[in-house]
Order: sequence, then structure tokens, then C-alpha cells
Amino acid sequence: MGALALLMASQPATAQVKEVEVVHWWTSGGEAAALNVLKGNLQKEGISWKDTPIAGGSGVQAMTVLRARVTAGNIPTTVQMLGFDIQDWAELGSLADLNAIAAKDGWDKVVPKALQRFSKYKDQWVAAPVNVHSTNWVWANKAVLDKLGIAVPKNWDEFVAALDKAKAGGVVPLAHGGQPWQDGTVFEAVLLATGGGDFYQKALIDLDPATLKSDKMKTVFERMSKLRTYLDPNFSGRDWNLASAMVIKGEAAFQMMGDWAKGEFIAAGKKPDVDFLCFRFPGTQGNVTFNSDQFVMFKVGDDRKEAQAKMALAVMDPGFQSAFNVVKGSVPARTDVPGDAFDACGKKGIADLKEASDAGKLYGSMAHGHAAPAGVKQAIFDVVTKHFNGQLDTAKAPEELATAVAAAK
Ligand code: BGC
Repeated sequence: MGALALLMASQPATAQVKEVEVVHWWTSGGEAAALNVLKGNLQKEGISWKDTPIAGGSGVQAMTVLRARVTAGNIPTTVQMLGFDIQDWAELGSLADLNAIAAKDGWDKVVPKALQRFSKYKDQWVAAPVNVHSTNWVWANKAVLDKLGIAVPKNWDEFVAALDKAKAGGVVPLAHGGQPWQDGTVFEAVLLATGGGDFYQKALIDLDPATLKSDKMKTVFERMSKLRTYLDPNFSGRDWNLASAMVIKGEAAFQMMGDWAKGEFIAAGKKPDVDFLCFRFPGTQGNVTFNSDQFVMFKVGDDRKEAQAKMALAVMDPGFQSAFNVVKGSVPARTDVPGDAFDACGKKGIADLKEASDAGKLYGSMAHGHAAPAGVKQAIFDVVTKHFNGQLDTAKAPEELATAVAAAK
């Protein structure tokens, strides 16, 4: 008996709603293209898709809307979610038990432990992981770099020299959107580059007070101030995909962003190594900061269980995980999906992930909910953004960071 048949055999016979309501924040061109793959697959299974997109990078707004909906008793079938947020909802007892389906479909064997740590709550599967993104990337316009004689920077000093050349060449050196989660995404990469993996672990995962207020942390903030000098005047509030578009069009040389940015380049018909370059944030090669998009299944009535199970199985289908992630910029959550269909950046993503994981240098992304719970993440964002916008002195920032984290823990 297949996983779905087995699950349904254990349910009372109830007329089934052949629709899933999916709450997500995939609203950019590349993201929407990737999501269409899933929509199409479910439709082939006879399940229609009620789309509930909530725009806002990294899901900040989506999580706010979700809280209001659940409080009002308006429960969606499934919700895109990140790391610690999954654990929070599971702890509240809001999530479905997917163990029967996961056992029958063999999820334990194919989902890496680093992801299971978030997909499961106390040994109970509550979410289906669709991908692994990594955040410590830089995206560059190749023609701009060639024209200005800029080589791919390998460390901080080379990165600064490259940004200076871009500035002198009359393009925006660094495309950025001033939103707390984007500032936080840059911050975690700068931190990793400055202090290495152990420093990242101690600061952002262990939340060690001495590390948070250390001299090295002061260097991280100094570097953030330096990067701030390479932005254009209109960066404030800009969505991440519009910053990607600046690089795509050659208005900007670089963007520091997770590999969902690749989805924008691909959606614009651009090719890696021809039109754009992808490389690890200078000084972080060998380390990977990751986040995984997972579809959390809420506890729903018996009439919605079959559609929900079909959604979970569709997300975990190996063919789907290949097709989706090729478009999305991420790599499959399942370890048994071949990498053949992936482009050069995707292949690098797969190889880097394996290398980092084998070497114990795979770390959860703070900015994308995989290092610390939401309250701590928000506290870090507040300090980082305040400093980035010139409202907090570099000398005071490490102490303020340590205090804010201690209060949020
Ligand atoms: C998600 C990506 C998404 C990005 C921008 C990240 O937190 O993992 O899937 O594309 O945010 O919204």
C-alpha cells in the first residue's frame, strides 16, 4: 500500500476537500516560477491550489499574518516556514503528525539530520522540507567586472578593492535593500568572514555574551560601516529582488544575498559564468550558512487530510525537488536527488554543502531563522539595522548586541 493509501485507510470516511490552501512569501519572479512547478504537480493529482501569497522577504510579514489567522481560527492547510518558527508552532501543538506518511515514504533516510532537527518536533514529523538555501553568497554582473578589470575577490581586502574599482567605474558597487532581514543577511556573512566558523557558532548559535561583545565583533561592525559606503542613496526599504535586478541590468556590480537571488537571474534569462558570477562571500569558502524552506502542515479537519497528505508527498517527490530547486536557486532537501540538472552555481551549491557538512562547517543562518529563535533574531536585527543606518556608534554596538540578545533569550 502506498503512503497516501495507508494514511487514508486509518481515517474515517469523510468527503474530501480537493484543495490545499498554501501560505507563502514567494512573490518575486524567480520564486513564483519555482512555485508553479509544485502547483502544476498537485493539479495533476487532482488537488487545486488556493494561493495565499504574503509578500515580504524572509517571511517576516507572512509570520505576522499567520499568527493573526491562527488566533482567529482560520487555519491554512500548509505554510512555508523556516527553522525555529517551525519548532515554535509545534510546541504550541498546532501542527499535524506526519509520522505515518514519513515512515512509509522513507523520509528519515533521505533528509539530512541538520534539516530533521527542524522538520521534527520530539520525534514527530511536522513539516516537509523542500530545499536547502545558503546565505553566504555574492552575485556579480560579469560584463561589469570584465569591463572594470575586477577579479573575483577572495578575502575582505580584495572585496574592498573590488568595490572601490566599481565605485571609480561609475556603477553602484553593492546593490542592497535596507530592510532588517537584508541587513542581517549581510551581517552574518561579514561575521563569518571576519571570525570564521567557530566565531559564528559561538556568537550567533551559542549566543555567548563574551563573543557578542568581543573586539572581533567590533571589527564586524566596522566592516558593516565600510560596506554602507558602497550603497546607492535609494537603498532604504528596497526589496531584495529589486537589488538583484540592479546587478542583472549592470547598474550595480555586486549583491550579497542568499541563493534565491539566482532564481532572479535565471528568470531574467541570464546564465552563470556567461552573464553573472556566483561566489562565496569573500573569506567564507568552506563554510556554509544554510536555511531550509519547509512546508509545515497544520492540524486540519478530516475532510482536508487527504489533500494535505498529497501536498506533503508532492513536496518530497525527488523529481519535483530537482525541478523546483533548479529554478529556485537552492539545492534539494533530499540527499538522493541527482545534481545533473543543476547549472554551475547549483552544482557549486551542492558541492559546498556536502564539503561544509562533512567538515562540521555547516551553520544555521541567523537571519533566516536557523540559528536562534525569532525573538533573538529580531533583537540582533534591531541592533544591526540601527548601527547600519548610523544611529549607533561602532564602539558601542558589540555591548548593545550582547545586551539585546541576553534580554531576548
Ligand atoms: C527563504 C527563501 C526566499 C527568501 C526571500 C528566505 O528566507 O528561505 O525561499 O526566497 O527568503 O524571500
